[in-house]
Amino acid sequence: MKKRKIKKGPKRVFILLLCILIIVLIIILLPKEKENNNNQTKEEKELTQEEKNINKLRKISYYKEEYKDRYLKYQTENPNLSTEDIVTQVNIGIDQEFYTNTKPAENLNTNLILVNKYNYVTEDYIPENLKEIDTAYARSGMQLVKEAKDAFEELSLAAKEGGYHVIAMSSYRSYDYQVNLYNNYVANDGKDAADTYSARAGYSEHQTGLAVDVYNLDLPYTSFEETEEFDWMQENAYKYGFILRFPKDKVNITGYQYESWHYRYVGKEVAKYIHDNNLTLEEYLAKK
Ligand code: DAL
Ligand code: ZN
Repeated sequence: MKKRKIKKGPKRVFILLLCILIIVLIIILLPKEKENNNNQTKEEKELTQEEKNINKLRKISYYKEEYKDRYLKYQTENPNLSTEDIVTQVNIGIDQEFYTNTKPAENLNTNLILVNKYNYVTEDYIPENLKEIDTAYARSGMQLVKEAKDAFEELSLAAKEGGYHVIAMSSYRSYDYQVNLYNNYVANDGKDAADTYSARAGYSEHQTGLAVDVYNLDLPYTSFEETEEFDWMQENAYKYGFILRFPKDKVNITGYQYESWHYRYVGKEVAKYIHDNNLTLEEYLAKK
């Protein structure tokens, strides 16, 4: 009897210790397992959210699979933009710094050539079919591509018949001309300021022969917004195939400050669409 009592003691202690050890292990290990489960769920959730985002982006007709990662990154950086704007702006290239990732302009010698801070024409690019604008509608020596020239003369004549003067004061500019212009601006204002209002050589759509700066014969062109002619242009320019190229509310898209005097020929149909939908040429092309 005595022996049994002596033997039972350590056995009970051992069982007790084992129970305590098991309880301690459960207490230590259980939360970790729970945490692991939580992490897994979170990762799964994140993955699902990214997939959801991509699925939404893919529904946009002009989504490009090769830009998938750029769309997602730009969306994270700009959570307030609509899915449509994310795709449009990445297609334009706005997720990357101006003058980075630049490429030669496509559609040379067409009304829809896009020359901006991502797309350039080479030093030797001279558009085909440049013609001088009649001096009834322009300062002397102003040239545009024939179709744009004819359209501008019609526009300026219609304005004149309404009692307004819409006169071309700068139109086609060669690469070399733009080099001097830009360098002068840089010398006067510094590069950062110059880049907000002047294109670097090769990046100016004046070299396409499709852009024209206008004034009203009275005020300097930089005050064109204050003139009745500006209101007339707002109402009528698109009917002749011209768009206001650098609007006030699109500085982030065009990369240039507002220019009330700079118009771009794109043809009547596209000009009407851009006008009616409050787009820039960049947005119009990026949505195609
Ligand atoms: N002022 C416009 C942006 C140009 O230099 O072409
Ligand atoms: Zn201009």
